[in-house]
Amino acid sequence: MTGKRVLVTGGAGFIGSHLVEELLKRGREVAVVDDLSAGKLEYLEGVMDHPNMDFHKLDILRTEELKEFMGGVEVVYHLAANPEVRIGESDTWIHIEQNLLATRSVLEAMKDSGRARTILFTSTSAVYGDAEVIPTPETYAPLFPISHYGASKLGAEALLSSYSHYFGFHSLIFRFANCVGPRLTHGVIYDFVNKLRRNPQELEILGDGTQRKSYVHVKDCVEAMLVAEKRCSRQVDVFNIGSDDWVDVKRIAEIVVEAMGLEGVRFKYRKVTEDGRGWKGDVKFMRLDNSKIKSLGWRPTFTSEEAVRETALYVASLQ
Ligand SMILES: NC(=O)c1ccc[n+]([C@@H]2O[C@H](COP(=O)([O-])OP(=O)(O)OC[C@H]3O[C@@H](n4cnc5c(N)ncnc54)[C@H](O)[C@@H]3O)[C@@H](O)[C@H]2O)c1
Repeated sequence: MTGKRVLVTGGAGFIGSHLVEELLKRGREVAVVDDLSAGKLEYLEGVMDHPNMDFHKLDILRTEELKEFMGGVEVVYHLAANPEVRIGESDTWIHIEQNLLATRSVLEAMKDSGRARTILFTSTSAVYGDAEVIPTPETYAPLFPISHYGASKLGAEALLSSYSHYFGFHSLIFRFANCVGPRLTHGVIYDFVNKLRRNPQELEILGDGTQRKSYVHVKDCVEAMLVAEKRCSRQVDVFNIGSDDWVDVKRIAEIVVEAMGLEGVRFKYRKVTEDGRGWKGDVKFMRLDNSKIKSLGWRPTFTSEEAVRETALYVASLQ
């Protein structure tokens, strides 16, 4: 793998920037494309001057321009997406455009590049919807996502499969649980810290607080991708990536309160749906069966609570 030229879409984002750092450490030549809609150049500060690093500000929907950056690229790590599950009810187009059509654009650029034949894609546990089997294995069916985010990622997974069949691509799909860690800029921990900054006496919790999910540290996510890239030779394959346990939203609120050094905070629950979800499209219970990626030698190094705590301390330390 050393010396290979690779492309990371969304490389200035939360997970992408950690992946870029790791790829450079492992001796790859890394081209990054990111439109900076959510990503930040400061996340790449430590590697911007690296001789094997090449950053381009680009919207990946611009297929013709994207093709120009595919020169010499052998492997594409496709992370660019809109990851905000919550906005799917008010904006029914954004996930179709940013996640599904954008993935098609990446696949088209690969097709015409002649050289890029491997793609690693960050999908999500949201493709399972309200799964009736927990921990949920990759073989769980039928897949009925309950959010446009999950639906768009499932559609993108299907496109990876069909492009692989037509054009001989090697596709690895990663269904991440909630990925957290330094540089996180969205999700429940981030929201709680910001709400508590505005009002340190009371925290509004969306849903009934019993929503329970698996949280996985970003370093474990990156390692899982690189382990699978090295050890999986099936033409198209899919891996769940999560920690082995889960944590509920009330406990997350407690951890955030502790991390901010606050005491006596009142929790106020806002029931948005009859069954206590935080918003329409929010999967209430999620834990993934990780045995498939573990069979390749990967193990999570953080529990859900440890990953949440480290993230809460990080977000709380930001100005
Ligand atoms: N964070 C999680 O819990 C989680 C869980 C499951 C899957 N994922 C997936 O992992 C990937 C990375 O997520 P993240 O949490 O780092 O989010 P993020 O928002 O920090 O990163 C996404 C990056 O993509 C860029 N981007 C978005 N649209 C673009 C476009 N059209 N062209 C170029 N760049 C574009 C953004 O600027 C950002 O830097 C996403 O595909 C997301 O769906 C994340």
